[in-house]
Amino acid sequence: MVIRLSLALGFRAPVRKGEGMTETTTREIGVTELVLRDGHQSLMATRMALEDMVDACADIDAAGYWSVECWGGATYDACIRFLNEDPWERLRTFRELLPHSRLQMLLRGQNLLGYRHYEDDVVNRFVEKSAENGMDVYRVFDALNDVRNVRQAIAAVRRADKHAQGTICYTESPLHTIEGYVQMARDLMDLGCDSLCLKDMAALLKPQAAYDIVKAIKDDLGTDVRIHVHCHATTGVTLVSLMKAIEAGADVVDTSISSISLGPGHNPTESLVEMLRGTPYSTDLDDARLLSIKDHFATVRPKYTQFMSAITGVETEIFKSQIPGGMISNMESQLRQQGAGDRLREVLLEVPRVRAVAGYPPLVTPSSQIVGTQAVFNVLMGPYKALTAEFADLMLGYYGATLGERDATIVEAARQQTGKEPITERPADLIPPEWDRLVSEATALEGCDGTDEDVLTYAMFPGVAPGFFKERPDGPKNVGKDPAEVAAERLASASGGGPVHGPIRYSVNMDGKAHSVTVERA
Ligand code: CO
Repeated sequence: MVIRLSLALGFRAPVRKGEGMTETTTREIGVTELVLRDGHQSLMATRMALEDMVDACADIDAAGYWSVECWGGATYDACIRFLNEDPWERLRTFRELLPHSRLQMLLRGQNLLGYRHYEDDVVNRFVEKSAENGMDVYRVFDALNDVRNVRQAIAAVRRADKHAQGTICYTESPLHTIEGYVQMARDLMDLGCDSLCLKDMAALLKPQAAYDIVKAIKDDLGTDVRIHVHCHATTGVTLVSLMKAIEAGADVVDTSISSISLGPGHNPTESLVEMLRGTPYSTDLDDARLLSIKDHFATVRPKYTQFMSAITGVETEIFKSQIPGGMISNMESQLRQQGAGDRLREVLLEVPRVRAVAGYPPLVTPSSQIVGTQAVFNVLMGPYKALTAEFADLMLGYYGATLGERDATIVEAARQQTGKEPITERPADLIPPEWDRLVSEATALEGCDGTDEDVLTYAMFPGVAPGFFKERPDGPKNVGKDPAEVAAERLASASGGGPVHGPIRYSVNMDGKAHSVTVERA
């Protein structure tokens, strides 16, 4: 039956580049593959071990991607916190296994991969070391879209002669306008960026907005300004957004191989390829390689079921709340810890109010956590009865500038609670030189090898690094479960949680008809 079906469809050969389109030349659209970083970060809490990626690398390297995102974001943290894996070793392994690919990372500007601002020297050293270890393309963003916070990192990337990509975090508010995004694009290009990224972390970027923003930037700055578009899939509309962005002139779009895609993750790579067939645009991706990559990760995926996001389908309520999927699960667990698991709805209503008080920051790490946690506090204790230290810092300007004015009453409350004065300068300008101190603290730790790489690990994760350095010799820990073990557990829970005794009944689809099959234990 399966064979006959494919024969029936085989009459129409797929339209290839150029075919079926008289005299039109297609514009080639670059693709950034996300599966090795944001794909598993979004779908399985960044838990995928390097071991489960290596066998896909030869196919990824030969598939024809513009770049392969494989490092940065939350992967560094997850490596040392959960996987006993040296993130620098991971980077060197990718460099070796992906010799023909541009390796790409996500860098949080002056925060690097940590959660506070670092002094410029630390930023410079991080960029130098990652370039030395094999990084090529740096997507640099700031959670508040404060361009001053990406300036240093972008300058360091340029000095290292690598690709500097300036990022516009997409968000919506009464103050965010297309002209504002164009202005930010100008500011980023003035820093000497090689390309721009329109980054939609919450799947809020609707097709028309994608078109309008990309078009406005190209019209203003020239069509040779390279624009990359990054969308999540959570709201179900963004594959169309990628299409409209391409029609407006976008050069590269981000996707993840189908077996690690959709839900809070990204649009599937293969869907993009198929969508563009028969249009004036094409990708140069190799279908056979994509199939191998898909098959590889389809086998890996079940090992990480326990870490999978609860959101698997589409969530259009995000358009109202603006809250990215990862943030909701974060707030849920905070509420449960306080015995207030039933108050999520109130918190979801509170988040936009907190965001307005804070001057409408985009919600992306770390601003999403800061705003989300304050919303939880407001619901549990009353509005602004207690400020988290991070929210107070945000209100006082210690994370940078927001587009909107911050609520003066809450700024005053933050000042009184912390004893700190509000600032308007670039936050990192207030940080004294810290590299020498970080070196002496890091090298005093058991297991620290004294390299700049280790010092950077300590600088970004001072709480986690000591344990990691000590346990590093034990080698990487794969937190995925053996698929057989997962299947056994699933059977056990399907039969009421206990051991399986009686025969198990399955419904099997054969030749389009449902059959009931009973399996007895031997
Ligand atoms: Co993302």
